[in-house]
Amino acid sequence: MSTPLSANQVRQLFLEYFVKQGHVVVPSALLVPENDPTTLFTSSGMQPMIPYLLGETHPLGSRICNSQKCFRAQDIEEVGDNRHTTFFEMLGNWSFGDYFKEEQLAWIFDFLVNWIGLRPDRLFVTVFAGDKTHNLPADQEAVVLWQKLFASQGIKAEVFTWDQIANQPAGNNSFPARIMLYSAEKNWWSRSGTPNQMPVGEPGGPDSEIFYDFGAECRLHEKSVFANQPCHLNCDCGRYLEIGNSVFMHLQRTVDNFVDLPKRNIDFGGGLERILAATFHQPDVFQTELFLPILHQLESLTQTTYKQYPRPYRIIADHIKASVMLIADGVLPDRKDQGYLVRRLLRRAMRQARSFSGAENLLPKLVDSVVKIYHQPYPELSSVQTKIEEVIAQESMKFERTLNAGLREFNKLVTRQQVLTGELAYHLYETYGFPLEILLDEARANQVPLADNLDDLFSQTKQLHLKQSQAGLDQKFKGGLADHSARTTAYHTATHLIHQALRRVLGEHVAQKGSNITPERLRFDFSHPQPLTTQQLAQVEQQVNDWIEQSLPVTKITLEKAEALKSGALAFFAERYPNQVDVYVIRRPSDQQLSIANLANNPDIISMEVCGGPHVTNTKEIGKLSLFKEKSVSAGVRRVYAKVV
Ligand code: SER
Repeated sequence: MSTPLSANQVRQLFLEYFVKQGHVVVPSALLVPENDPTTLFTSSGMQPMIPYLLGETHPLGSRICNSQKCFRAQDIEEVGDNRHTTFFEMLGNWSFGDYFKEEQLAWIFDFLVNWIGLRPDRLFVTVFAGDKTHNLPADQEAVVLWQKLFASQGIKAEVFTWDQIANQPAGNNSFPARIMLYSAEKNWWSRSGTPNQMPVGEPGGPDSEIFYDFGAECRLHEKSVFANQPCHLNCDCGRYLEIGNSVFMHLQRTVDNFVDLPKRNIDFGGGLERILAATFHQPDVFQTELFLPILHQLESLTQTTYKQYPRPYRIIADHIKASVMLIADGVLPDRKDQGYLVRRLLRRAMRQARSFSGAENLLPKLVDSVVKIYHQPYPELSSVQTKIEEVIAQESMKFERTLNAGLREFNKLVTRQQVLTGELAYHLYETYGFPLEILLDEARANQVPLADNLDDLFSQTKQLHLKQSQAGLDQKFKGGLADHSARTTAYHTATHLIHQALRRVLGEHVAQKGSNITPERLRFDFSHPQPLTTQQLAQVEQQVNDWIEQSLPVTKITLEKAEALKSGALAFFAERYPNQVDVYVIRRPSDQQLSIANLANNPDIISMEVCGGPHVTNTKEIGKLSLFKEKSVSAGVRRVYAKVV
């Protein structure tokens, strides 16, 4: 392929390729999975697909593909090298009990080689070596499939095991293995890690990663801390870049071992940023069009160059991009929950900027570059650009003030105490939002000795803080209710009716994305690709008011989680619920006692949702509703507002 591809083209071609193989494209879910109390962010493409991987039927069929916005908070500290970012787009394709290994490996290879022009001799793959503890066999089938695919390109694919590589000379750059077998540490995928780490019920399976080789001439290797270790595909030295992962998700953890999932699934995810870098044979993902405009803007604002300060530049570019995306999805800088991460990103970026430049108020000036980069896939960003700039400007000002006040306090306290203790560090962190890394820098600059156990003590207190905010989060996500007043409770029941009415009028693809309820009004977010027409809105409103007028009883029934799921109750984050769940059922008046036996396909049932409550006991308590506003929240997500009239 001679003309270089743009990021938009790579994204588009991926989706086109899989549409050609019978897939349906779905929009990206929000970065914040609302109503899911146990995870703060969408961190992989498969997260919103969990119910379908567990066996639920996807309304759009068994072949789905998308480009999902992802944010990985756990990678913050990794950012600074050639390839780690906290925000990225994951190109994904899924088979829910449809095709399996053979099609998947052949298609992804065909896409990489024939559609976006990656040289097959630069592609290397890893395969699961098996796990004796859990009686899981090595994935010989994947080895054979890969060997055939490479042979079709005239490449003889040799297979190596980790033991063979461990004995290679240190820093070896002439790596001969095309296919490398790794244990579950590297070639097993579940949200919670290796087979041992998986909780009961969690789906997972062996995977096969594809790496792009930047070649022995890629100098990253010699400079890296890995220079004295043998180089292998997954060694992290930077020569081989993981560009995609096919998970063969067909197992589910039980108490003792594993059972087959109801269906054999495929979950493929590949980082757009990395795939794009590979098409340019550019080992530094920051030197692609998905980052360059930010770096250039930073160069002109600070009169310095990326070459001089690659690490701080990368951190700033990644963090500003992630902040823009998170703020656009509704997360504002805050002391806790998701907002705390945005605050941390912005503060870290500001601190990095201060490390090499005196330029002031830099961050808001970088927002424009981010909006421009994503103009095509996320056009909604430009309508909130000014708001995002304001939020970031305010947060910068706040941090400047905090920093100055905190530094004064720091100096005062350490002069008195002579040493930076864990408690002092925590006090400064709590009061001034001083991250430990800043305190450490300050202490070093002022030659203040550090307490021995500073790190531990600090992490312990931080742990405590996290626990507290997690508890706060549980509260917050109890249905997104501001309080438990009668009005709020009535609105909460109304959201269940609205959800159901939307599914009847628009289709079963409608799924709740979040809700927020105050005594004044209710807000309800849901997946749907385009604005609602006036007629559709009127139909939904009419349907909801009909149900309200019919004085339908609302009943709670407590079930085992598995039973609740089988019953057909709507449950969007089922895998995260406790073992016993409450299901709220709204149905036509009936003498029949509700039980697990008569829930499924019961024609009297209007709505059935797993929910923490509280709810009114009869729909007539809601009162006549008006759907007074409808708007877009992000790509593929709409919001309606309703209140009583
Ligand atoms: N879930 C897998 C991953 O994140 C593939 O999409 O790597």
